Amino acid sequence: MVLAMEAIKRKLWNRLLGEDSWIDRYGTFRDRERFGLIGRPNYLYGMLRAADCAKYFGKSRVTAIEFGVASGAGLLNMADLAQLIQAETGVEFRIIGFDTGHGLPSFQGYRDHPEIWNPGDFAMEDREALSRKLEGRAEIIWGDIAETVDAFTAAINPEAPVGFVSIDVDIYSATKSALRCLTGRPGQYLPAVSMYFDDVGFFFANEWCGELAAIAEFNIEHKMRKIGSDRSLPGHRPKKADNWYSAMYVCHILDHRARQETVNRSELTIEAHADFMRTRFLF
Ligand SMILES: C[S@@+](CC[C@H](N)C(=O)[O-])C[C@H]1O[C@@H](n2cnc3c(N)ncnc32)[C@H](O)[C@@H]1O
Repeated sequence: MVLAMEAIKRKLWNRLLGEDSWIDRYGTFRDRERFGLIGRPNYLYGMLRAADCAKYFGKSRVTAIEFGVASGAGLLNMADLAQLIQAETGVEFRIIGFDTGHGLPSFQGYRDHPEIWNPGDFAMEDREALSRKLEGRAEIIWGDIAETVDAFTAAINPEAPVGFVSIDVDIYSATKSALRCLTGRPGQYLPAVSMYFDDVGFFFANEWCGELAAIAEFNIEHKMRKIGSDRSLPGHRPKKADNWYSAMYVCHILDHRARQETVNRSELTIEAHADFMRTRFLF
């Protein structure tokens, strides 16, 4: 009886206010994530993937990186999301931002999209204010990524492997440098690293310029590390199309031990395997 009343209430609510509104009011954290109801769904999706994968591979900490911080809106969002995801999964985040602090650096030709951006665009407005708002929840590595990324990569702690990377540096040359963060030792990463590329979906974007050119070259240059589009989207998600889906990629760490050897577990039937995947959020 109670269940039937609940079903009628939900049906009426959905008809009058829409299903999003019902989920927003009564849904679980996972429901609200799947419906895209929590701010920056692209960051939430990538970071939740990182936390779920970390858990599956026995890690309690994971690293998320934002290349291109500007005034810090994205990094602050990451810090807030990390708290929500930790409450859901128990996985703790280390969050790192990279930025020059004074906007886009000098350009190196047509691949940096000079028709769209200019050196100096997106300069950081107030470092002190951002640092106060972050309250120690994220670190920022200042300077040109070309000069800072290698020391960072060498020091990634395998106990907090990289699980999510957002590339929001706009231009080819900076993306090329940023992707060097994926060239460390296999154990410094989750076997698959969720990635968001902010600048792959505008009219001038193409595989010979910008972030797309840097991805294409990375794949040619690295036999056992490959960046491809995230093929799990939209998958089982209720919204079959959303702008950010095509900006999500995965860096496959093919030389990671977990991608070289089978998992030690008993055999599963088809149904049990589907359950195994579903309960670990691996679809
Ligand atoms: C579009 S803004 C980032 C916006 C930010 N992710 C957000 O969501 O609020 C791009 C940033 O990339 C940074 N950037 C571009 N090239 C860089 C480089 N080579 N080294 C460091 N930072 C760079 C610029 O300083 C700029 O702040």
